[in-house]
Amino acid sequence: MTTKNPIKVAVTGAAGNIGYSLLFPLAAGQVFGPDQPIELQLLEIPQGLQALEGVKMELLDSAFSLVTNITCTSDGDEGFGDVDYAFLVGSKPRGPGMERADLIRENGPIFVGQGQAIDRSAKENVKVIVVGNPCNTNCLIAQHQAKRVNPRNFTAMTRLDQNRAKAQLALKAGVPVSEVSRLAIWGNHSPTMYPDFENAMIGGQALTDVITDHEWLKSDFIKTVQQRGKAIITARGKSSAASAAWAAIDHAISWSRPTPAGEWVSMAVPSDGSYGIPEGLIYSFPCTVNAEGEYNIVPDVALSSFAKEKAMASAEELLAERDAVKDILG
Ligand SMILES: NC(=O)c1ccc[n+]([C@@H]2O[C@H](COP(=O)([O-])OP(=O)(O)OC[C@H]3O[C@@H](n4cnc5c(N)ncnc54)[C@H](O)[C@@H]3O)[C@@H](O)[C@H]2O)c1
Repeated sequence: MTTKNPIKVAVTGAAGNIGYSLLFPLAAGQVFGPDQPIELQLLEIPQGLQALEGVKMELLDSAFSLVTNITCTSDGDEGFGDVDYAFLVGSKPRGPGMERADLIRENGPIFVGQGQAIDRSAKENVKVIVVGNPCNTNCLIAQHQAKRVNPRNFTAMTRLDQNRAKAQLALKAGVPVSEVSRLAIWGNHSPTMYPDFENAMIGGQALTDVITDHEWLKSDFIKTVQQRGKAIITARGKSSAASAAWAAIDHAISWSRPTPAGEWVSMAVPSDGSYGIPEGLIYSFPCTVNAEGEYNIVPDVALSSFAKEKAMASAEELLAERDAVKDILG
C-alpha cells in the first residue's frame, strides 16, 4: 500500500476520442508510476457530460488501484481545482470550409476561460500540456490568462510529430525505432513544422550517413510527417486519437523525469529568443529535462540554411496566429 499523496490531473475534452485513449494509461500509472495515487478531474462541455459519465463508469470498472477519485464537471474551477497537471485536449474541431484562422478565433475563447480557471484554481506549479488544436496558439492564449503560473509551465504537444518522424526514419533505415535519437520538431504543430533530420542519429551515427537518400529526407520524409494527420483521416475516416493520446503520455513522462543522456525531446515551449525565434511564441524546440522536472531548450544545435529557412517559416506562421488573437491575449 502506497503512502504518497494523490497527484491531481485535469483532462479537458475527456469524453472525446483522445480522452478515451488517454485516461486509461494515466489511471494505470503509466506517467506517474506504479505507486503514485491519482485523482482524475475530468472536464467536458455540458452536452458531453452524459458520455463522460459512461467513461467514468468504464474507469471504475477497470478497478485501477491507483485511482482515488474521479470528478466529472463542466465547471473550470472544480475541474482545475488544485491540479498538478492539466491536459487541455478539448477544443472545437475544424468544420467544413473553415480556415485555420477561423479555427483559431473559434477556439480562442475556450482557452481564455480555461487559462483564467487555471489561474484561479490550479496549483501554482501546475504543468499544462495543450493538445487541442491549434495547440501552440491555444497554449499561448491560456498562458496569457494565467499570470499566477510560471509562463514556462505552459507547453503544447509536438510529441506526436516527433514520434511520427522517428517511425518513418526507422522504417526507411530498417532499424528499430529505439535506434533513432535526437529527432527534433521545430515550430508549429501544423504542416509548417520542421522535423530536423540533419541533427538526428541512428544507433550512434549521424542519420544522414545511414540514410543516404538525402533527396527523400528533404522532400518525401518531411511531407509525410507534415501531412500524417491528414493521411490518417483519409484512411480511418477519423482523426488520429490513440497515437495522439500516447504522445501526450510520452510528453508528460518526458517532462517529469530526466531526459536520457544524449537524447532530446520535442516540446512546444515559450521561446526565450533562442535561434532567433521571437520571444514568447509557443514554439517546438529540442529540449532536455533535468532531475527537477525543468526543461531547457538545447543550445547550439547546428542548423543548416535549409533548416533555418524551415524553422523561420513556421515561426512566421505562429506570428500570424498570434496576430489573429491579439485582442484576446490580454
Ligand atoms: N497536438 C496534436 O498532436 C494533436 C493530435 C491529434 C489531435 N489533436 C487535437 O486534439 C483535439 C481533440 O481531438 P479528439 O479527437 O479527442 O476530438 P473529439 O471531438 O473526439 O473530442 C473533443 C472533446 O472536447 C470536448 N470539448 C469541446 N470544448 C470543450 C471545452 N470548452 N471544455 C471541455 N471539453 C470540451 C468535446 O465535447 C469533445 O468531447 C482536437 O483539437 C484535435 O485537433 C491534436
